[in-house]
Amino acid sequence: MATTHETIQAPVRASSIPAFDVKRVREDFPILKEKVHGKPLIYLDNAATSQKPEKVIQAILRFYAHDCANVHRGVHLLSERATEVYESARRKVQRFLNAADAREIVYVRGTTEALNLVAQTFGRRHVQAGDEILITAMEHHSNIVPWQMLCEEKGATLRVAPINDRGELILEEFEKLLSARTRLAAVAHVSNALGTVNPVRQIVQMAHARGIPVLVDGAQAVPHLKVDVQELGCDFYAFSGHKVFGPTGIGALYGKLELLEAMPPFQGGGDMISSVTFEKTIYNVVPYKFEAGTPDIAEVYGLEAALDYLHHVGLGNIASYEHALLAYATEAIQQIPGVRIIGTAREKTGVISFVLDGIHAHDVGTILDREGIAVRTGHHCAQPVMDRFGVPATVRASLAFYNTKQEINALAAGIQRVKAVFG
Ligand SMILES: Cc1ncc(COP(=O)(O)O)c(C=O)c1O
Repeated sequence: MATTHETIQAPVRASSIPAFDVKRVREDFPILKEKVHGKPLIYLDNAATSQKPEKVIQAILRFYAHDCANVHRGVHLLSERATEVYESARRKVQRFLNAADAREIVYVRGTTEALNLVAQTFGRRHVQAGDEILITAMEHHSNIVPWQMLCEEKGATLRVAPINDRGELILEEFEKLLSARTRLAAVAHVSNALGTVNPVRQIVQMAHARGIPVLVDGAQAVPHLKVDVQELGCDFYAFSGHKVFGPTGIGALYGKLELLEAMPPFQGGGDMISSVTFEKTIYNVVPYKFEAGTPDIAEVYGLEAALDYLHHVGLGNIASYEHALLAYATEAIQQIPGVRIIGTAREKTGVISFVLDGIHAHDVGTILDREGIAVRTGHHCAQPVMDRFGVPATVRASLAFYNTKQEINALAAGIQRVKAVFG
């Protein structure tokens, strides 16, 4: 790609990083031309959901305009076409995560459903009274509550590995909490509230050394990092399509084949069976055993287009560009007097959570919105993280590869304006 005035190079040898043309990439996202309160949209809420390239929007349209039919059930052409895309997209998700087998990819509505699926199937089967589930102090509510519900039902205990003042997992403490009673460790790959990247490979090695399986919540990782589940060695990996430039209502759960095969189904209904009588139902093979009912077919079309798009832009290019943009943004924001950044891990992706002295996060967000700047304010579905840092809420600016230095400058100017208003 050609270099533009907005090209940012990561702080490594320039020749080792492909130039990244953010101006051109922005053209692929129709919403980025939108005006908000009369100002150009500056979208910095990518950790909540990311924007969709034209190709994703077109793929959804293609399903409804040309291929609309149910999958797996029809002998007619439209159903065959829809089924073909539904299954070819599964193979794309497989390649995206580098899973060994397409049967290891289960479509779900999103990360939340994936985590609940594992809790209600694997968890219910393997967790007994007195057992433990280990999570970390930086988890999103969706990687806390399903385990709490399971523990409550089974009389098991939820253990929480602490984080340090930078927002990094304290690995020695995590290791100490892996006990003979631990049935599963469930950890975020990347924290949505802090941006911390966890050393998943090390975590998996520690847990596997004790025969404990590991589930990784990858919701915030896959939009920013190349993920290889075989290299990580994890047993389960979950992500949401809408955070990876795809549609809402679709995501994937990766599970090692032997684990998925041994797990009971999640929901009962059509498609998840191979035969039904009133006396006995024989379940379908994986992954269909976990995909009851008519799935989100249009969303699968969109997800496939999103993964193709990411492949086209290149996750390596994205990671380098975002790394440099995060460094730039951190520098710009932390030098504003009265700003405290929450989450300063050495390994981070593009999240800057901060508080502003004496000004509530919601007020900051509201004033920034008037400037066309979309940030998230609140607890980010990670209340225990807020408690850990002693704040009720933060302002979170979260980056994607279509954000620019100019937008970061506008954010910094916006924060100065907030300060002037409350001055
Ligand atoms: C780390 C993390 N896990 C899980 C989720 C839940 O994802 P979803 O709401 O798409 O199911 C989120 C969403 O923000 C997240 O950031």
